Amino acid sequence: MQQQNEQRADLIGAYVRELFVPRDEVLDGFEQELERAGIPLIQVPPELGKLLGLLVRLMRSRRVLEIGTLGGYSAAWMARALPEGGRLITLEKSAKHAEFARSFLARAGVVDKVEVVVGSALDTLPALLEREEPQFDMVFIDADKESYPGYLDWSIRLLRPGGLIVADNVLRGGKVMEPGDDAVLNGVAEFNQHAAASPLLDSLILPNRNGQDGILLAVVREQQ
Ligand code: SAH
Ligand code: DHB
Ligand code: MG
Repeated sequence: MQQQNEQRADLIGAYVRELFVPRDEVLDGFEQELERAGIPLIQVPPELGKLLGLLVRLMRSRRVLEIGTLGGYSAAWMARALPEGGRLITLEKSAKHAEFARSFLARAGVVDKVEVVVGSALDTLPALLEREEPQFDMVFIDADKESYPGYLDWSIRLLRPGGLIVADNVLRGGKVMEPGDDAVLNGVAEFNQHAAASPLLDSLILPNRNGQDGILLAVVREQQ
């Protein structure tokens, strides 16, 4: 029964991708390239990449921040959805991942729109406040889960009123409901609680990956 459900869910996933995620020479080769480079295959699935692009457009974004670049897959989806002159800043701790991402993003045709910043995000985020244009329309959080609560605070500081936070991996197979003493699960559970309770935000979790994980969406309330 369980196996039948999983097979059916896989078929449904394939149906959605077939209909709504167009073939793309560069994006479709990503996973194989990542594997060859010995980098973990933990990028968002194609339909979540597509959703991130739709959200960039829906927000009429000109400036997007990503925390956790990996090889640049989600970054490519978001950067491609930006208008002319739009900018994506993406933060990555691993110099190896950042180098891979720069080369991948060049091939994806968005190198002019993306800046990959190397360093641990909690160390590189403060400098964003000092930039000429410090406000973002959207933030995608997808780096180390222990730091999610810190990333939430920074996102609120860096987003414009009405700006959007999207965070990946907020359900972890439902394990966030009983985090025990696991640092990853506690980071995510605290993040979810803060997002839900913050008077500055209006938030919801959408389950995805066949219900095995979820994304959190939060809009920064406009000033009353
Ligand atoms: N958004 C990517 C996947 C990101 S995976 C995609 O969907 O294509 C998580 C990434 O966060 C990894 O590359 C990891 O090296 C990076 N990371 C982990 N801890 C970090 C930190 N403290 N600061 C910045 N990046 C970090
Ligand atoms: C992991 C991280 C992710 O961002 C993800 O989407 C899946 C797995 C991980 O660290 O294992
Ligand atoms: Mg993720």
